Amino acid sequence: MNILVINGPNLNLLGERSSDIYGTKTLKEIEKEMRSAAKGNKIKFFQRNGEGEIINIIHKHIKWADWMIINPGAYTHYSYAIRDAIEVCKIKTVEVHLSDISKREAFRKKSVIKDVCKKQIKGLKEKSYIKALEFCISNGKK
Ligand code: DQA
Repeated sequence: MNILVINGPNLNLLGERSSDIYGTKTLKEIEKEMRSAAKGNKIKFFQRNGEGEIINIIHKHIKWADWMIINPGAYTHYSYAIRDAIEVCKIKTVEVHLSDISKREAFRKKSVIKDVCKKQIKGLKEKSYIKALEFCISNGKK
């Protein structure tokens, strides 16, 4: 299977960013762990700070990706454009968060992408990504 992993704004600063909330791993370290857990599946990683850039990556992978794992960062809470891109691309998608957005500030509790994703995994710091990958692999292409 082909698995697309997209990280949104400020996630390039993981490792330096409030480690009590987001953990101590850098994005590069998380990517390395995901590659080791990929079980022969192909994974492509992208990190972009811009909403339009994220949408362009989704569009480019409509044919390629069987699954998408996405952490849209703060866009999670208000980007109807990313939500629509996920809906229109029809790539099976897992929403991931390092922190537990349901237990944080009021503006973070709402995810506008949740209902167009197969699953939401949150609150496990970097392990959220591994859980998401395991979910994709165990559900396969169906
Ligand atoms: C986040 C949660 C968002 O509210 C925040 O803006 C992020 C990271 C998380 O992974 O916990 O950038 O998506």
